[in-house]
Amino acid sequence: MPDNTGSTPQDVISILRGVMDPELNDNIVDLGMVRSAEVEDGEAVITIALTTAGCPLRATIKRDVQHRVETLPDITSVTLRWDELTADEKARTMERARAKARDDARPTRVPTSTRVLAIASGKGGVGKSSVTVNLAAGLAAKGHTVGVLDADIWGFSVPRMLGVSERLEAERDVETDRPVIRPEKALVGDGEIQVVSMGLLVESEDSALMWRGLMLAKAVEQFLNDVAWGDMDYLLVDMPPGTGDVQMALARLLPQAEMIVITTPALGAQKVASRVADMARRSHMPVVGVIENMGAFVAPDGASYPLFGQGGGQRLSDEIGAPLIGSIPLEPAVGAGGDEGVPVALGSDGPASIAIRGIVERLVDEISPPTDIGGCSARMLAAIDDALGALDRPR
Ligand SMILES: Nc1ncnc2c1ncn2[C@@H]1O[C@H](COP(=O)(O)OP(=O)(O)OP(=O)(O)O)[C@@H](O)[C@H]1O
Ligand SMILES: [Mg+2]
Repeated sequence: MPDNTGSTPQDVISILRGVMDPELNDNIVDLGMVRSAEVEDGEAVITIALTTAGCPLRATIKRDVQHRVETLPDITSVTLRWDELTADEKARTMERARAKARDDARPTRVPTSTRVLAIASGKGGVGKSSVTVNLAAGLAAKGHTVGVLDADIWGFSVPRMLGVSERLEAERDVETDRPVIRPEKALVGDGEIQVVSMGLLVESEDSALMWRGLMLAKAVEQFLNDVAWGDMDYLLVDMPPGTGDVQMALARLLPQAEMIVITTPALGAQKVASRVADMARRSHMPVVGVIENMGAFVAPDGASYPLFGQGGGQRLSDEIGAPLIGSIPLEPAVGAGGDEGVPVALGSDGPASIAIRGIVERLVDEISPPTDIGGCSARMLAAIDDALGALDRPR
């Protein structure tokens, strides 16, 4: 008898639509690379066919598939089998990739190679925005190209926290005749962060009021479609409290998006955990990790004061089955950095700054490494072009 509570092969396929082949600019399901998906006793067995068996993208695809499928309810293990596309299948896959490139059918201007991390929480005021700008600053300082999308449309705080205030300029794309918005640049050490926020579009809180009729999800969609993001290793999305609409829009428009959940160390996390799990399930956005914020305040004499409780991050991590990436202590410098527009992760050697840098390391090395392009599909396309060219050429 089928198990009604567990995940089905269809759920597996749905969540695999978020795994991209960054060279072919499409997801592995629609590219015909998922041969089969079965679920039995909590084990998902998935067969993936690659363009060439020795494809260098294999490691990235393996990680993405495992990461996403493991987040499905009641899946305890994921077994991956590899296969190679037949000549016919390859031709079909490439044809689809080409047609897509021709029609420019991609739904947004965010490259499929960009890691998209939605910074969310089960309740407000836990430090989503502070963590977002600090992770962005930490990633940029390590030389990654980073974008920040402030999806907290009316409660925006990212511009202040990153010290940007220039108005965004809209231009017209000469090719498509559509408006394009150039993101604002925040300079961070040797790197820079591209920033887009409603706070950079409206003149003041008052004029923000006039925009309120606009649906939130629509605003996010415009930010993804009309902003000239360019290449980015990471796009961090500061989610509004409450989520719902915005979350669904993000998951639909950027299927590769993954969620990081911020929580305080307070233990009453039960309700929060189920809310987070529910958000993730409904949007098919996997939770790849938990970050605890506002951990114990450490006084200069070394005494530790757990003002907001203890253990909440680990408990939430256990409950939703996603790793605890790290814990950021309470430190006045975090708030001060936000007010001054200089994220604490830069330049300070205080405990919060050290914790944030540790989290950035783990993100890059383990949780969501940047996509390594330059693999097999591009070579494949070239080989097919050569072969077709040879057929066309008179002998
Ligand atoms: N680790 C920390 N130490 C000290 N203060 C912090 C820390 N993290 C966040 N804060 C402060 O807590 C307040 C709330 O943080 P923030 O605005 O980042 O939360 P949020 O989850 O984005 O809130 P909202 O749900 O309203 O969007 C801010 O004043 C911020 O400066
Ligand atoms: Mg916020």
